[in-house]
Amino acid sequence: MKTDAKDKLCVALGADHGGFYLKQELVTRLQDDYEILDLGADSYAPDDDYPDFVVPVIKAVISGEAQRGVLVCGSGVGACIVANKVPGIRACLCHDVYSAHQGVEHDDMNILCLGARVIGVELAAELVTTFLKARFSEEERHRRRLQKTRDIEKQSFLVDRDKERGA
Ligand code: RB5
Repeated sequence: MKTDAKDKLCVALGADHGGFYLKQELVTRLQDDYEILDLGADSYAPDDDYPDFVVPVIKAVISGEAQRGVLVCGSGVGACIVANKVPGIRACLCHDVYSAHQGVEHDDMNILCLGARVIGVELAAELVTTFLKARFSEEERHRRRLQKTRDIEKQSFLVDRDKERGA
């Protein structure tokens, strides 16, 4: 039976030069089963900067245009740091299969970050598929923790040094 594009999960992908070739490979492997939003880089450019490719993926996930995001840089670390600046984004660097599904099931992770200089193509593809097939458990304890996470997002953590000193 043919699957209609509207029935497919939409996945936004982004990568800098460190993740470019892995991202291209992932797009090729995923395109039959998922609706793909390839948000760059469109070509290998050794001087490009990962934050520029994280932002479009964040926007796609926050707006609901994509249900999930995949970010690839050299280590996966830089992309993960940038993505988690934005409330509503729960991005994690997962290089093991357990975390790739448990992060969704327990923590409602919505962006998977990968380091193309750290793992190979086959593991990366398995991690992405595992992440995309996983669903949030909706269990009360997981909902409660997610709500606490959302509450933290609303707080200001700017420290007033004078107030702390009682001045
Ligand atoms: C780019 O050389 C590299 O620093 C970047 O892809 C990433 O690994 C940052 O975390």
